[in-house]
Amino acid sequence: MCGIVGFTSRSASAVGPLVSGLRRLEYRGYDSAGVALECDEGIKVFKQTGKVAELDALLKKELPEEERGKFTVGIAHTRWATHGLPTTVNAHPHIADGGSLALVHNGIVENYAALRSGLEKHGVKFVSQTDTEVLAHLVATFDKGDLLAATCEALKRVEGTYGIALISAKHPGEMIVARKGSPLVIGVGEKDIVVASDVSAIVAYTRQVIYLKDGDVARITPDGVDIHSLDFSPVSREVQEVDWDIGAIEKGGYEHFMLKEIFEQPDALRNTIRGRLDAGEGTAILSGLNLRPRDLAAVRRLVIIGCGTSLHAGMVGKYLFETLADIPASAEQAAEFRYCNPIVGPDDWVIALSQSGETADTLAAVRESNRKGALVSGLCNVVGSTIAREAGRGVYLHAGPEISVASTKAFTAQVTALLMTALKLGRTRRLSLEEGVKLVAEIERIPDLISEVLKKSDDIAKIAEKYAKADDMFFIGRGILYPAALEGALKIKEVAYVHAEGYQAAELKHGPIALLGEETPVVALLSDIAGKEKTLGNVQECRARRAPVIGIVTEGDAAAAAAVNDAITLPRTSAPIAPIVTAVALQLLAYHVARLRGCEIDQPRNLAKSVTVE
Ligand code: AGP
Ligand code: GLU
Repeated sequence: MCGIVGFTSRSASAVGPLVSGLRRLEYRGYDSAGVALECDEGIKVFKQTGKVAELDALLKKELPEEERGKFTVGIAHTRWATHGLPTTVNAHPHIADGGSLALVHNGIVENYAALRSGLEKHGVKFVSQTDTEVLAHLVATFDKGDLLAATCEALKRVEGTYGIALISAKHPGEMIVARKGSPLVIGVGEKDIVVASDVSAIVAYTRQVIYLKDGDVARITPDGVDIHSLDFSPVSREVQEVDWDIGAIEKGGYEHFMLKEIFEQPDALRNTIRGRLDAGEGTAILSGLNLRPRDLAAVRRLVIIGCGTSLHAGMVGKYLFETLADIPASAEQAAEFRYCNPIVGPDDWVIALSQSGETADTLAAVRESNRKGALVSGLCNVVGSTIAREAGRGVYLHAGPEISVASTKAFTAQVTALLMTALKLGRTRRLSLEEGVKLVAEIERIPDLISEVLKKSDDIAKIAEKYAKADDMFFIGRGILYPAALEGALKIKEVAYVHAEGYQAAELKHGPIALLGEETPVVALLSDIAGKEKTLGNVQECRARRAPVIGIVTEGDAAAAAAVNDAITLPRTSAPIAPIVTAVALQLLAYHVARLRGCEIDQPRNLAKSVTVE
């Protein structure tokens, strides 16, 4: 999903920081990029389709180094088109008021058509097909001398979501930013102030940040930040310290962020687990939930909501809560949940899973759950993210920034956090002290178990070579491994563009087996836990149709290894841990197949890291 960067300084040129900020946000996915720079002569806009590198080349051609110092204020944008094709005209920034005002936007103006026709009736000329352009003209229309007030007036008339930044030659040195449903963070440096869609574009300048909230509108000058609500009343927001540095968002010697984040998982999960297990009591300490044992004991049902990989983690969570806490649980696709008039209430605990904490569908589902009086908690990776804040309570993953569009460490961290939550809930119900103590010991081993799987990367790469040309694949799993099958299929779809389907192993013979043949490899999840023998039967059905089978098997399970064409062996674990180690193997399989197919691994085509639109 697009990226916004704003920069203002007393003396430093904005050009370099804007471009490097956009580069830090590239992982969010985009189709075009642009900047608007302010100087004494007015606003200069440079924008085009394609990569930030191409925009940078254009700037190098149009703005010689010696000319850059006069631009100390600017805004920049990477666009992920929702309204209007990815063309240079539709790229942001959009201008108004004779080119004196420039604006960039993340989100959707749902009533843009009505706003546009109203403005056109007053003689405003539009040049683009975007919804965004109406915002620029609307602010210009209300500008009677105070740009912040004009922005508030304009935004009161907007339905939909926005994160915006705008500058105006009529208000030199000022930058106005606002958010509703799309994230914006302000980095307050000693000399410069940086605004961005997320902190990865800010930490190079400062770790002192202000997370804007929905409805906030801020005027930023080199002298400081002045935040108001839409009705123009002043608002105060605390300055927080970001708890990681620029190194965390560099590749660290890996060819791709995805590979780095796959190999980071042992350390990432140590951070997820750190300080959250009580070995003596056999339970978990999740103070962010802010729930007493009697609150937990009163819960009658779990509803876990999420999208994509987060939904798959939630589906594992269903099994964990039902088996460990003996409580009914379901995992719901967030968009489906929010529109089905969900039957949830005070006895239900809704857990919202979101790595970014900004996914529009999941955020809407949180709001629906809050409206219906359910107990709501978040399970997010980005501190201060919208979902984390609106859930009001929850568990942060502390997995470190996840840059690659394909989610890897977030999945294993989410499942681990759900496992600790299920342990905690279980110990307020029927899970015994002995069972709890045993599970605590197993959870503490997860990072080392993942390290064991990572050692198999070269073996997995060899298997990937055999199957990298397949254009269709099946991933089959049973019980708690079924969500892992879905996740393995999603990974290889996303990064290797292989049409892959995750299926319940038992379901294959009810139709999809018609698609099998020697060109259609099947990845069978055969961890040595309940259901394995039945899945081995499904493996035979596949091989009887000449489909090659890659088995994800437990070390020492000779029968399972002998039943498949190629085996990836995992350390022995109990059922709750099996999806975690299995997922790591499948992440590596997807990565190596993508590498062999020459795919753009960190920023796959058509995808965005955080889907902040519906
Ligand atoms: C996962 O690899 C995908 N990039 C995508 O499915 C992602 O999991 C989904 O968009 C949800 O994102 P979130 O966890 O940030 O809410
Ligand atoms: N809806 C706007 C457009 O299509 C902004 C999209 C985005 O968030 O990048 O231009």
